[in-house]
Amino acid sequence: MSDVPLIHLDGLTKTLTGQGEPRPILSGVNLTVHPGDSVAILGRSGSGKSTLLSLIGLFDRPDSGRYLLHGNDIARVPERRAARLRSQEFGFVFQRFFLLKHLTALQNVSMALVNGQGWLPRRKRRAKVMAALEQVGIAHLARHKPARLSGGEQQRVAIARALVREPKILLADEPTGALDTETGALVIDVLHAATHRGCGLVLVTHDHAHANRMQRVLRLTDGMLVPEHQGVFR
Ligand SMILES: Nc1ncnc2c1ncn2[C@@H]1O[C@H](COP(=O)(O)OP(=O)(O)OP(=O)(O)O)[C@@H](O)[C@H]1O
Ligand SMILES: [Mg+2]
Repeated sequence: MSDVPLIHLDGLTKTLTGQGEPRPILSGVNLTVHPGDSVAILGRSGSGKSTLLSLIGLFDRPDSGRYLLHGNDIARVPERRAARLRSQEFGFVFQRFFLLKHLTALQNVSMALVNGQGWLPRRKRRAKVMAALEQVGIAHLARHKPARLSGGEQQRVAIARALVREPKILLADEPTGALDTETGALVIDVLHAATHRGCGLVLVTHDHAHANRMQRVLRLTDGMLVPEHQGVFR
């Protein structure tokens, strides 16, 4: 039971067509993520890291290959079901924080519950939101609006917003890209802490120090994920 992976990708492929010729971006991606696993994905710009996260997060579908979520093949789920799975299973964190600037931290995190989980009594919702802010270490800033928060604090609000729905998997696409190294390290701490509560974490990053905090470090190259040679860049 518990050895069914959260995510199992087997030979995923994706070709994208922009203005020009169709370009194969992913040519056979394999990846297995269990509860509590943390995986870093490195790769040069344009190698397809964000494309891969968008397939994992069900914003898009692969051309071929198998995608098992809790053991069920969802490579070709229709959009309605994908939307439901996105809000039930995944938490997303991006380089930009996408906070609503006229709302407080508490209200920003609250939005994730209003949109995703039907109706919750106000008191229950508030307790969940405060617990999420607590988890990322900024409960004391609950009443602050984004303009009064540092970049790192804003990203932690965004992470709390991802965590408040208790996702099984966190997908983070360069979450420290807009932050200095020290602040970035704090954000990685917060993401890492979620794996101790059983969340799977897939982190796309350009930062080797951050990547090396994860259990596994992979590199997306020629459309495939390969183990990164530890130590080469250190
Ligand atoms: N909708 C699209 N149509 C056509 N090509 C696309 C589309 N989206 C992305 N691409 C191309 O696919 C390739 C992979 O893009 P992707 O954004 O996944 O790379 P990335 O590894 O995340 O890069 P970065 O590190 O710069 O974020 C790039 O060459 C990009 O130009
Ligand atoms: Mg990208």
